[in-house]
Amino acid sequence: MQASRIFIVGSGVVGEATGNGFLAAGHEVTFIDTSVPRIRELWGRGLDARAELDLGAERDSFVFLTLPTPNQGSAYDLAAFTAGTTTVGAALATAPAHHTVVVRSTVPPGTTEDLVGPLLQRASGKTAGAGFGLAANPEFLRAASAAHDFTHPWMTVIASRDPHTQTRLRDLLAPFGGDLRTFDDPTEAEFIKCAHNIYNATKISFWNEMWLVARQLGLPLDPLAATVARSAEASTNPDYGIRGGAPYGGACLPKDTRGFLGLAATLGVDMPLLRAVVTTNDRLTAVMNSEVEGVTQHAAQQAVVDAGQT
Ligand SMILES: NC(=O)c1ccc[n+]([C@@H]2O[C@H](COP(=O)([O-])OP(=O)(O)OC[C@H]3O[C@@H](n4cnc5c(N)ncnc54)[C@H](O)[C@@H]3O)[C@@H](O)[C@H]2O)c1
Repeated sequence: MQASRIFIVGSGVVGEATGNGFLAAGHEVTFIDTSVPRIRELWGRGLDARAELDLGAERDSFVFLTLPTPNQGSAYDLAAFTAGTTTVGAALATAPAHHTVVVRSTVPPGTTEDLVGPLLQRASGKTAGAGFGLAANPEFLRAASAAHDFTHPWMTVIASRDPHTQTRLRDLLAPFGGDLRTFDDPTEAEFIKCAHNIYNATKISFWNEMWLVARQLGLPLDPLAATVARSAEASTNPDYGIRGGAPYGGACLPKDTRGFLGLAATLGVDMPLLRAVVTTNDRLTAVMNSEVEGVTQHAAQQAVVDAGQT
């Protein structure tokens, strides 16, 4: 394997795990960060850390954006992410070689193409795809086991419009193993990562809500939840999410969701998540019915018009 030149822009939890994983795999890694204490910390671990990215004398490289994307109220705050991306664009302007910029931060869907691409193009005067590579490659690691998760990924998602960039990233990341999936649209990768986190959060809240009921019934939740993870989750995976616009129905799910809400009420337990599940299903049913009605009415009107024309 030929060692790749790699820059990590934003060298916090994800950046350090990413860079160290690449170092351990034999690549040449430089960490970039604006925080002087952080740079000193990285120096203390014997790492090459710098305050600025300079690509003037560098060969082809990968520049991973592992910049922070915190919240401002209930929205993403992309100020630091935007600032860091702009410095990468400026570095690209004077770079003689071809560099591939990879968005590894968790960002709202559309960010790579609607924000990162235009920022890099404006600052560098180069075009995405031709002047530099652009890709999304979200990180799935857990903070508590960041280093191990990076080197043993269970899922790697690569997305780029440019087949050459896809291949280069695939060659770099495939040796780490795990399920590697490639997409042509970076927005799809960004959506996957956001949905992954929201799905996990929903599962945790779901089980916490069930835990409140189990506690009232004097039941131990862990072995029961572990069994449901096999009985319910394993029975339908990997079909999740591919039946958009199809509310649940049939003899069991509507009956048992409402029935359990009633049972929890008698135990004095409020289940807002389960109530929302029922509400979401009822709303979707209403939306789908009105759309079907709309199509039927349109077809009937069209038939009248057609009949009038013939
Ligand atoms: N922490 C996790 O477990 C985890 C897991 C998966 C994905 N993510 C995502 O990865 C991204 C990074 O998260 P993190 O936890 O590593 O953040 P972090 O706060 O630990 O690290 C961010 C680093 O970026 C540096 N920085 C800020 N502005 C900069 C700039 N303009 N130029 C260079 N460096 C700059 C900061 O000094 C800091 O060291 C986020 O989008 C996060 O949502 C985090």
